[in-house]
Amino acid sequence: MRATQTTTIKPRRLVLHCGGQDDVYCDPARFKVLAAGRRWGKTELALAQLLTACMDVNRVGVYRYIAPTQKLARKTLWRRKLKRVLHPTWLLKEPNETNLEVWFKTGSILEVLGADDPDGLRGEGVRGAVLDEYADMAEETWPEAVRPSLADMRGWALFIGTPKSFNHFHTLYERGHDPAHPTWRSWQFKSLDNPLLDADEVEEARRTTDPRTFRQEWEASFEALKGRAYYAFNRTYHVKPVELVNGLPVCISFDFNIHPATAVIGQQHGDEPWVWREAWIEHAGGEATRSAAQAAKDYLAKSGWSGEVRIYGDPAGKAGKTTGPSDHAVLKEVFPGARWCIPSGPPHVKDRVAAVNARCETMDGARHLRVDPSCTHLISDLNQVTFLANGDLDKRTNEMLTHVSDALGYWIHQEFPLVEPTVTFGRVRLEQFL
Ligand SMILES: Nc1ncnc2c1ncn2[C@@H]1O[C@H](COP(=O)(O)OP(=O)(O)OP(=O)(O)O)[C@@H](O)[C@H]1O
Ligand SMILES: [Mg+2]
Repeated sequence: MRATQTTTIKPRRLVLHCGGQDDVYCDPARFKVLAAGRRWGKTELALAQLLTACMDVNRVGVYRYIAPTQKLARKTLWRRKLKRVLHPTWLLKEPNETNLEVWFKTGSILEVLGADDPDGLRGEGVRGAVLDEYADMAEETWPEAVRPSLADMRGWALFIGTPKSFNHFHTLYERGHDPAHPTWRSWQFKSLDNPLLDADEVEEARRTTDPRTFRQEWEASFEALKGRAYYAFNRTYHVKPVELVNGLPVCISFDFNIHPATAVIGQQHGDEPWVWREAWIEHAGGEATRSAAQAAKDYLAKSGWSGEVRIYGDPAGKAGKTTGPSDHAVLKEVFPGARWCIPSGPPHVKDRVAAVNARCETMDGARHLRVDPSCTHLISDLNQVTFLANGDLDKRTNEMLTHVSDALGYWIHQEFPLVEPTVTFGRVRLEQFL
């Protein structure tokens, strides 16, 4: 049985969980850096820190909540949290839905902002700022926009986020452990430190997430992203002969590149994608997608396949081209009866790569991917594709790489996306705030 005890901060009756929220909240450091796993309660803590500041008559001023984008700030804080806990008796007037501003009777103002508008962050006289998901903001947001705004009021800042390799978030996290910076303090908590988080959710992530992603997202560990993108792929375990099996649909997944044009063809055996063949066409010009689709169709015809076909691929291929029909239109033409499994929006590269790594190996040590030895380009992609320092895939060093593994990634991400955790035991809520 996990502890579910919580700490109540008086006189505001704001309830923070005992898995670290109360420690961070109460610490008097001017600059606090919190690295915590997914669903630990980072944004809830941000809200608590800002609301108590705004309600304090001795600390009247302008306070800011900053998310990587204003859209995100509106969704995660304004709509889902702030609007639900604000009590009309605290407010001078209705919250401003356009500017995302709240005016308190104490005289304080809470501004909800996005780091995607650096000019909106400039200004002065700010008494406190929370930078939520700081690892996803541009490096210059803090030194160029936020730090100067805190200067004249000697304002405080709270940086929170889940790590993203060793970027600027890690630099500030280290500063919080450095005795040469006594006004800084850092903490690191795992998702499971949140006593309200359902342990089954984390177990589920252990079964479905690759080890590196699990450590980063759920244990808030700073993980090097340098080196192989598909680090969990290992020829010894994953390359084995694959045959088509009657009764299971065939999945064909495309990356709409021109040189080379690529696709992977396989089947799903429960939670295991098995890649049977790859299509790899060079110098096909404007007919690249049609050539790759036709090659896949020929493979199937040669094998005598007549069952269900499912089409996966890059959502970006729906736009028409100046020289002919869109990639999606071509696929619909070549596979008229196939089931369409391409989503409307593209997955984030990081999530797509993580989904492939998770099929290679999950945190519990299970392996779920199989690749036929005939797929030589896919195997070299999985071995050779690397990340750039900024977290993108390196598509420059060798322009033939990344395409066929991207094709595999669209299929895998669509069928085996990373687990989105939920908190099922939210017994004590911030609604109890007064
Ligand atoms: N002290 C608390 N009391 C009650 N519920 C809480 C508390 N802290 C967190 N929660 C609940 O836990 C869930 C996760 O909280 P929150 O959204 O703040 O986490 P997060 O770490 O910001 O998550 P994400 O990684 O998705 O950004 C929410 O449902 C929230 O209501
Ligand atoms: Mg959050």
